Amino acid sequence: LQKQLDAIVSSCPLVPVITIDRPEDALPLGKALVEGGVRILEITLRTPHALQAITDLRAALPEVWVGVGTVATVEQFKAAEDAGAQFVITPGSTKELLEYGLTAKIPMLPGVSSLSEVMEGYRLGYRAFKFFPAEVAGGVSALKAFSGPFPNVKFCPTGGITREKAKEYLALPNVLAVGGSWLTPKDAITAGDWRQIRTIAEESLAAI
Ligand code: 3PG
Repeated sequence: LQKQLDAIVSSCPLVPVITIDRPEDALPLGKALVEGGVRILEITLRTPHALQAITDLRAALPEVWVGVGTVATVEQFKAAEDAGAQFVITPGSTKELLEYGLTAKIPMLPGVSSLSEVMEGYRLGYRAFKFFPAEVAGGVSALKAFSGPFPNVKFCPTGGITREKAKEYLALPNVLAVGGSWLTPKDAITAGDWRQIRTIAEESLAAI
């Protein structure tokens, strides 16, 4: 699972955190991001359309990794696996999720915001975490501090990150990739402005 996760996060330094409000947006949005250079899509379970979007994106875009975000229960994890998700991201960590993640067929990136949570996940075998909400939980300075006691633990920070900030995070040796919703602004999706989405992805990748 760790190898699978490494392959995924090393494919692209930026992970768009995507919320699908209208089912018909999923494919054009995914295509625009891919055209802009993105290779990982995180579809959050924040609307009822997420699982279908994952299935559709997997079928339409074999060149990208399609995963699920905002997974808070084991039931949601299993539903996402059934829908074809290739990885799971959780906002925080529960014992149930951490344990289930070790037995699953797809890798999980558990969410942490403190060293105690890192320690609990580490004890179970996790070596990479989502750091959320990154900017609120201490940002770049916190991750620098985390590398002291846990030099071999890696993070994907998300939460409050912008195009400008992404570069600072990615300069840290313990950051694998940076996630965020700045890559998929709601107004652009609502307007069906796929060209804008593609441009944001291109410019964000060029900026890092
Ligand atoms: C997430 O679940 O990772 C966050 O909602 C993304 O945070 P952002 O919207 O502040 O980028």
